[in-house]
Amino acid sequence: MLVPCDAVKGDHVKSLFASIKLEYSFLFFGLLSVLLSAAASKRPSTPRKTCTVKALGGGQDDGPNILAAFKACSSNAIINLDTYYLVDTLLLTTGLDNVDINLSGTVQYTPDIAKWSPQSLFLTYQNATTFWFLSGKNIHLYGGGTIDGNGQVWWDTLNNTHNSGTAGGSSTTFARPIPLTVGNATNVIIENITQIGSPFWNNFVYQSSNITYRNIHINSVSYSSSPTANSDGWDTYRSDHVTITDSVVNNDDDCVSFKPNSTNILVSNMHCNGSDGMSVGSLGQYAGETDIVENITVRNIIMNNAQNGARIKVFGGSPNPSSTAGGGTGFVKNVTFENFQVSNVENPIIIDQCFATDPQVCSEFPSTVIISDIHFINVTGTSSGTKGGIVVDLECSANCTDITATGTNLVAPNGTAEFVCKNIASTAELDFNCTSPSGS
Ligand SMILES: *[C@@H]1O[C@H](CO)[C@@H](O)[C@H](O)[C@H]1NC(C)=O
Ligand SMILES: *[C@@H]1O[C@H](CO)[C@@H](O)[C@H](O)[C@H]1NC(C)=O
Ligand SMILES: *[C@@H]1O[C@H](CO)[C@@H](O)[C@H](O)[C@H]1NC(C)=O
Ligand SMILES: *[C@@H]1O[C@H](CO)[C@@H](O)[C@H](O)[C@H]1NC(C)=O
Ligand SMILES: *[C@@H]1O[C@H](CO)[C@@H](O)[C@H](O)[C@H]1NC(C)=O
Ligand SMILES: *[C@@H]1O[C@H](CO)[C@@H](O)[C@H](O)[C@H]1NC(C)=O
Ligand SMILES: *[C@@H]1O[C@H](CO)[C@@H](O)[C@H](O)[C@H]1NC(C)=O
Ligand SMILES: *[C@@H]1O[C@H](CO)[C@@H](O)[C@H](O)[C@H]1NC(C)=O
Ligand SMILES: *[C@@H]1O[C@H](CO)[C@@H](O)[C@H](O)[C@H]1NC(C)=O
Ligand SMILES: *[C@@H]1O[C@H](CO)[C@@H](O)[C@H](O)[C@H]1NC(C)=O
Ligand SMILES: *[C@@H]1O[C@H](CO)[C@@H](O)[C@H](O)[C@H]1NC(C)=O
Ligand SMILES: *[C@@H]1O[C@H](CO)[C@@H](O)[C@H](O)[C@H]1NC(C)=O
Repeated sequence: MLVPCDAVKGDHVKSLFASIKLEYSFLFFGLLSVLLSAAASKRPSTPRKTCTVKALGGGQDDGPNILAAFKACSSNAIINLDTYYLVDTLLLTTGLDNVDINLSGTVQYTPDIAKWSPQSLFLTYQNATTFWFLSGKNIHLYGGGTIDGNGQVWWDTLNNTHNSGTAGGSSTTFARPIPLTVGNATNVIIENITQIGSPFWNNFVYQSSNITYRNIHINSVSYSSSPTANSDGWDTYRSDHVTITDSVVNNDDDCVSFKPNSTNILVSNMHCNGSDGMSVGSLGQYAGETDIVENITVRNIIMNNAQNGARIKVFGGSPNPSSTAGGGTGFVKNVTFENFQVSNVENPIIIDQCFATDPQVCSEFPSTVIISDIHFINVTGTSSGTKGGIVVDLECSANCTDITATGTNLVAPNGTAEFVCKNIASTAELDFNCTSPSGS
């Protein structure tokens, strides 16, 4: 049966005590006190407890035992997840302090839609819910293991029910949980983890600060005729000081998405394949809310076979004061997209301030999410040609200011490259000549 946790002191401490015992009988007190002080100085100030979770096997739910380990080892501790676990229970692991989580095994969630859709933790924004809410401070999750969201069943079901929310997001009646949310957390490092088959976004950084991800491999790929859905690599929300680096994402939605109130974020050295790009937004979705995205740097990006490269998406305005599809306010300020190498990308550079909004509504009610101080540096490569010659598409419904581009070298596979701009106040700061969108 299960031994969820066992408190183990460091081996070096144990062997020192062994040698003290052995030598006590024939050595004088001077040497004993040296040995004792050596033991004291080598011992960590608080000994770290270790909890190793055993798997039940046979298709049984390992969730309760994982939760027990996170309770017993919630501070100054190490939690080992070193085998295959099947999880059918919400992982609400909160209040952690100075905890190492060594995930060398696999955490696989059951594909039980009837159970998870109501029991996953509801996070309000875009009806997002999660399988695992990891919360607290000074947390290190690592180990080379895998988080498996069992997404295929969810994608197939969505393909047949079409039960989704605004702009194709999640709905409350068919909630597709996020496999790992770092929420209400500070000082967290997540590294050397593989994520496969997420039903929704792979990672959610929620109301958190000083969070670093590195060496993460994400694969959201469907093996049936149903597409994956909302398979974002990361979404950041109400979070500050987030770093995402040295990672590979294979998916079919945003590689990284900077949602409302994402500030001071660095994304670098990423390889994105099949994605919808490095995306600020969507913003301005909820009338009456203020969305702020400020101080974002995205650099050294390889973007292949994607819908977008460097992207900003903002809903248009709305006459409806309780709209959930546009009409919000706020700003996007100081965003730099630098060193992008694109290949087979539909829109290598795009600003859309009329995202998922009827153009007629947009011209009558321009967005009040103000976009300024945006810099595209050294974005090079080839588009897909699906937009003809268009390689840059900067379209604001209200004026966008201080948008600059340097080192742009983009070609279309067929025809001359075209650069479309609308309501861009700083066209002199772009290193290409703008044309107006056709039909305007
Ligand atoms: C949330 O889910 C409800 C019910 O399924 C849906 O009507 C609504 O559009 C969703 N909200 C958003 C913002 O997607
Ligand atoms: C996260 O923090 C907020 C604000 O303190 C709190 O209301 C909410 O309950 C917390 N969420 C969880 C899941 O702990
Ligand atoms: C951020 O978190 C890391 C890792 O936990 C920690 O080493 C560092 O001191 C934190 N930085 C700040 C400014 O708190
Ligand atoms: C993460 O992987 C890298 C590269 O394999 C390795 O150098 C590093 O020690 C690993 N980190 C942890 C905490 O295991
Ligand atoms: C996905 O939906 C399409 C029609 O919308 C259907 O042809 C296809 O069989 C569905 N795929 C699966 C795996 O259910
Ligand atoms: C974003 O931050 C601003 C300023 O603190 C605040 O007024 C606004 O409510 C926040 N918006 C969201 C979506 O949290
Ligand atoms: C813009 O953001 C970057 C970080 O992405 C920061 O280093 C820089 O100081 C910011 N510039 C301004 C003018 O705030
Ligand atoms: C953006 O960066 C500048 C320069 O470092 C800093 O003064 C400002 O407070 C930052 N903005 C936010 C929202 O953190
Ligand atoms: C431009 O970006 C490419 C990667 O796409 C990089 O190899 C090159 O060094 C960058 N050029 C400059 C001048 O920074
Ligand atoms: C350009 O080529 C792509 C594929 O290479 C094709 O899909 C597209 O229709 C072509 N566009 C034009 C305007 O010829
Ligand atoms: C937008 O910018 C253009 C050019 O700078 C200017 O002529 C126009 O008045 C501005 N419109 C608004 C609504 O600010
Ligand atoms: C933009 O157009 C001007 C005037 O037609 C021309 O002199 C200039 O070379 C063009 N610049 C680029 C980058 O094509």
